[in-house]
Amino acid sequence: MATVWVLGGPNLSRLGTREPEIYGSDTLADIEAWLRGEFPELELTFLQTNDEAELIGWLHEATDAGADVVLNPAAFTHYSYALRDACAIVTGAGLRLIEVHLSNPQAREEFRHTSVVAGVATGSIQGFGRDSYRLALSHLSQTN
Ligand code: DQA
Repeated sequence: MATVWVLGGPNLSRLGTREPEIYGSDTLADIEAWLRGEFPELELTFLQTNDEAELIGWLHEATDAGADVVLNPAAFTHYSYALRDACAIVTGAGLRLIEVHLSNPQAREEFRHTSVVAGVATGSIQGFGRDSYRLALSHLSQTN
């Protein structure tokens, strides 16, 4: 069974009540339950943190476990070079890392237009709400 780690950065734990007009009304737990139902063929690990160091540690662990990664880096997307380097370790090991965003950062404030992660990701999916995650997992499932 293919293993995928679905990792999330800061403030995603507040989905459901956090700016629902931008991020929708699903909680992260709702999204997780929906994705588990959609992809019974994948062994999924879901983790979220507000801590940059913890997220980097999980990327190292995913690499060691040989797991592909779906990552919503949240605000770290826009400035964390340390996170970028950790993502490069994942893809440098030959694993896939798909950057996902619920919203379309390109259509929002200018500081969100830069992703320091995109250049070392396998690919990026953004702007489709919770479907961004489904599209990423669908690709990983079909091409495993
Ligand atoms: C986000 C977009 C980021 O700009 C923002 O900081 C988030 C969520 C998204 O999923 O749309 O926290 O990654």
